[in-house]
Amino acid sequence: MKHINIVGLGEVVLDWVAEVPHFPKPDEKIDALSENYFSGGVTANYLVAVARLGGFSGFIGAVGDDSYGELLIDDFIKENVDTTYLKKITNKKTPVNFIFVAKGEKTIIQSPHMYTTKIEPNDISESYIADSKLLHTTIIHQKVTEKALEIAKKNNVKISIDLESQIALRGWNNIKNVLLKADVVLPNKEGAKSITNSNKPEKAAEILVKKGIPIVIITLGSNGVLITTKDFQKRIPTYNIDNIIDTTGAGDTFNGAFSLAYWIKGWDLEKSCRFANAAASLKIQKLGARTGMPNYQEIFNFLKEKEDNFF
Ligand SMILES: Nc1ncnc2c1ncn2[C@@H]1O[C@H](COP(=O)(O)OP(=O)(O)OP(=O)(O)O)[C@@H](O)[C@H]1O
Ligand SMILES: [Mg+2]
Repeated sequence: MKHINIVGLGEVVLDWVAEVPHFPKPDEKIDALSENYFSGGVTANYLVAVARLGGFSGFIGAVGDDSYGELLIDDFIKENVDTTYLKKITNKKTPVNFIFVAKGEKTIIQSPHMYTTKIEPNDISESYIADSKLLHTTIIHQKVTEKALEIAKKNNVKISIDLESQIALRGWNNIKNVLLKADVVLPNKEGAKSITNSNKPEKAAEILVKKGIPIVIITLGSNGVLITTKDFQKRIPTYNIDNIIDTTGAGDTFNGAFSLAYWIKGWDLEKSCRFANAAASLKIQKLGARTGMPNYQEIFNFLKEKEDNFF
């Protein structure tokens, strides 16, 4: 088996995506501009972002025993994401998310099957995590996450957490044992607000660092990112993109590129965030979470144009 550097524990989902002229109001019926389906899921997208950039990534999680599940597995294989520990669960349905994209903005309705199609703590392979460098997760299934983090900690594997707002709404006391094991937590603006009750990213990040998380990186959409450690805090603006088609998966792409740059290549936080901003800038110019995810050469070309002496 290929050596896996970055293991992702979490979700893989089929995205049904309709481009719409505007978001419909209650009782309104509108015509979609297009109807598409794509492979998605926060953790799965993240692993594909890593693999496109040449990183060796593998997925721990589950699909149902249906054709959507088969399609998601096929796409992992095409993208070179290892599926040794992807489990197909009998009599469960693969989750489908419904995504509406209007003028580059999106709303997402998440499938309830997200919570029923899952692996159990006993399904976790200790050596798969122990032999990797980084474990990345969304904490979607908490018991399994706790077990995986325990293995990572015991084996000096770094821990990275994407904190979405639905998970953050479980409340600090319910997820603190997980968050405090992280080496880096990457919430978006909503996630940071939900976990700290602070509307200001600077303040929210400070709260999280004070509680004991070593690195907090809050993604701020078109405003780039905010890096916070106990020693410094800095906003890294992103690039001006005038052709924004779909921001679905922008955060996943950012996180994947950041992980590769910081944890595998060993670049500093700032350079890693600029690289990750560039990756997300390329992603948002295509429809679908993964379509626009760049390879290394594409980021190289983009940054050569945008910045002096990046590489
Ligand atoms: N409108 C935009 N213009 C330029 N860059 C953007 C824009 N939206 C997102 N990005 C890039 O993507 C990164 C992540 O975006 P965002 O904070 O929206 O993540 P997110 O809400 O987690 O997205 P998702 O969950 O859909 O992946 C940003 O830090 C930035 O680099
Ligand atoms: Mg996100």
